[in-house]
Amino acid sequence: MSEAFHGMVGSSLAMRRVYKSIRNVSPLDVPVLILGESGSGKELVARAIHNESPRRSGPFHAVNAGVLTPELVASELFGHAKGAFTGATTSKKGYFESADGGTLFLDEISTMRLETQIDLLRVIETQTFTRVGGTAPIRSNVRILAAANVDLRRHIRANTFRPDLYYRLSVFPLALPPLRKRRKDIPVLAEYFRQRFVAEFNRPVVGFDQGALRRLRAYDWPGNVRELSNVVIRLVIAARDQMVTESEVIDALHHTALDPQTQTAGTVASDPDALAESVYDDARGDTPMRPASPESPEVDGSDAAGITAGRTIIDVERDLIVATLEQTRGNRTKAAKLLGISRKSLYNKIRSYGLE
Ligand SMILES: Nc1ncnc2c1ncn2[C@@H]1O[C@H](COP(=O)(O)OP(=O)(O)OP(=O)(O)O)[C@@H](O)[C@H]1O
Ligand SMILES: [Mg+2]
Repeated sequence: MSEAFHGMVGSSLAMRRVYKSIRNVSPLDVPVLILGESGSGKELVARAIHNESPRRSGPFHAVNAGVLTPELVASELFGHAKGAFTGATTSKKGYFESADGGTLFLDEISTMRLETQIDLLRVIETQTFTRVGGTAPIRSNVRILAAANVDLRRHIRANTFRPDLYYRLSVFPLALPPLRKRRKDIPVLAEYFRQRFVAEFNRPVVGFDQGALRRLRAYDWPGNVRELSNVVIRLVIAARDQMVTESEVIDALHHTALDPQTQTAGTVASDPDALAESVYDDARGDTPMRPASPESPEVDGSDAAGITAGRTIIDVERDLIVATLEQTRGNRTKAAKLLGISRKSLYNKIRSYGLE
């Protein structure tokens, strides 16, 4: 297995460039804007920058301000004074204060409310802030890293993201290539996850056969490395033999797709075989993970929810939400629809499971 760089595996040219950028920018105390599709490793990159920087012994905090309720966002970020609002019986530090001397990772900034963007811009410009309900200016020495889905410019055009904040944060943009643009890394990552999950689940799976690897390489991985990791978990748990076979991969990829159309769209055209839907149907045998109940053609995250007895409903619900969000590529409206719950209820669950 190739060497991992701060937990990042892959030695494609694209990833070597990423490692080099991380090494270059880490020692400088400038903001970094990490751009990449869902599941491509943005948080890993943020942690790598922190760990390569002189702040490595300081705190690293990650926060997704977009999922905090409007009432809470300011007090979470900047803290609050005692008595600032009903329920504020004590004073509390916010993320900016507790990350003092370290790094604050602002995840998915495209979802940050405009008022919060203004507050953030002010903190970046003045290096100071006040707690909600407080008067004393507080100075905190924090390096800001931010992550965004690649469509941040669309948010700017739609006036939901402030260009002035964008320019402040994107002093050093670092783009993470999607997995389908670095297919060379797919077998390496698959092998890395296989070893990890074999150890975790104590399963006797020693490798992937040639056909299995070919299928993994040919797939488009809309959910990127996270999706690959999930597929390998499934393969390791469900493997019938020591070597993972091509048909098992086809089966696992069938389950990762939202529906057959998505699967087709997500498959490389250079592999016409993989495009034929019948391939999926023909090759699908029963796996130990598949529940006996009839499958819903729409919500096919069934294996995520049905793995083994002995898990709590909460675990299963959490996994189902994760799997569904992955299938919808983070689209919460679609995910809520598939899960048969309201969007608000999904938001609440995402928050309570800490999935943001
Ligand atoms: N190069 C890599 N090597 C090993 N594991 C990786 C790599 N890239 C990502 N991962 C793993 O894939 C998963 C997703 O990565 P991460 O959470 O960093 O992605 P992300 O871009 O922040 O995703 P999202 O946009 O959904 O928040 C994590 O479990 C992470 O450890
Ligand atoms: Mg992330």
